[in-house]
Amino acid sequence: MIIAYLTYSGNTEEVALMIRDYLQKDGIEVDLHRIGIDAPFHPETYDLVFLGTFTWEKGATPDEVKDFVWEIGYKPSNMVIFGTGDTQFGGDDLFCKAVDKLSVFYGSSHPVLKIEQSPRGYQQRAVYDWLEGVLHHAKSYA
Ligand SMILES: Cc1cc2nc3c(=O)[nH]c(=O)nc-3n(C[C@H](O)[C@H](O)[C@H](O)COP(=O)(O)O)c2cc1C
Repeated sequence: MIIAYLTYSGNTEEVALMIRDYLQKDGIEVDLHRIGIDAPFHPETYDLVFLGTFTWEKGATPDEVKDFVWEIGYKPSNMVIFGTGDTQFGGDDLFCKAVDKLSVFYGSSHPVLKIEQSPRGYQQRAVYDWLEGVLHHAKSYA
C-alpha cells in the first residue's frame, strides 16, 4: 500500500504517519509519497492508494494535489481519501471539502476520513476505526 499526502503545517502528515504505523503493525508493507516532492508512482502497482490532503481557501483542493491528480492521469479504482481541515474556516459546509471532492472525483468505494486539525488525542480512535473499516472492505472485495 502507499500513502500519498500533502501537508503544510504537519496535521495531514500526522494522520499519514498514524496510518502507516497502524498498517505496518498489521504486517502490511507501506510506502510514503510526499506530493510535490517524491517521484511519480504507478497506482496500479499497489493494493490501495491512500490520498491525504488538507483543504484550502473556501473549500479548495490545494494546487499540488490537483497536479498530482493530473500526473496520475486516470481514475484508479483503489483510491482511499483522507484529510484534515478546520471548521473555523466556513463551518461544516467547507470542512474538509477537498476530501469530499476527491472522493467523488475518483468514485471511491471507501468511506472518507476527516480530521479536525491534529489527529492526536481524542480523534486517534477515529483514524483506527476508519482504517479497520477500509481494510475489512478491501478484503471483502479482493
Ligand atoms: C488560508 C486557509 C484556508 C483554509 N480553508 C479551509 C477550508 O475551507 N476548510 C477546511 O476544512 N479547512 C480549511 N483550512 C484549515 C486547514 O485545512 C487545516 O489547518 C489543515 O489541518 C492543515 O493541514 P496541514 O497541517 O497538513 O497543512 C484553511 C487554512 C488556511 C490557513
